[in-house]
Amino acid sequence: MKFFVDTADIAEIRDLAATGLVDGVTTNPSLVAKTGRNFLDVVAEICSVVEGPVSAEVTAMDHETMVAEGRKLAAIAPNVAVKVPLTIDGLKTCKVLSGAGTLVNVTLCFSSAQALLAAKAGASFISPFVGRLDDIAQDGMDLIREIREIYDNYPHLKTEILVASVRHPRHVVDSARIGADVVTLPPDVLRKLALHPLTDKGLDTFMADWKKTGQTILG
Ligand code: E4P
Repeated sequence: MKFFVDTADIAEIRDLAATGLVDGVTTNPSLVAKTGRNFLDVVAEICSVVEGPVSAEVTAMDHETMVAEGRKLAAIAPNVAVKVPLTIDGLKTCKVLSGAGTLVNVTLCFSSAQALLAAKAGASFISPFVGRLDDIAQDGMDLIREIREIYDNYPHLKTEILVASVRHPRHVVDSARIGADVVTLPPDVLRKLALHPLTDKGLDTFMADWKKTGQTILG
């Protein structure tokens, strides 16, 4: 399963990319707004740091303007994945851009019917938002299970399931168990994946015992 980071904060992206664990980046207009920076500059900088897909979202609501925006974003770097909303105009835009060889991420997916449409429109990625479904007392992971089942029925569909709106490590583990292709993680969730109190406790004991030996490995 691939790990993307869900942020437009370049310092965070550089820090996490240095771990070798980051396969791509997702941004959205809210995350870009938080940076206070120029959107196109931010996308270009992220693409220079991360080799994998970098999602950059169109902000138009109509098909023609979405296509124009998508082409402009795609021209920034070959690893830009143009993000379009799951609307009819967004799906039409997905079909045009993906037909021209551009990576497209269809976002704001909340049902398996929507995911089926995105796959038919040739999306490279479908982004179901699990956390926002949990927020309204639906089980977000049920949606991932359903989409996996549907896509697996039609092996010619190449759309990857990109689990979005991830809130905690359990979402990541459940996504892996279901066989999602990608999870996009807020930086704090990625860091939390490495944590376990028994790891800390065990390390404290090892280090205390090692100190007693008076040795150093490097001499
Ligand atoms: C996905 O690409 C979105 O940027 C993101 O996961 C949304 O998450 P949120 O529900 O925490 O805003």
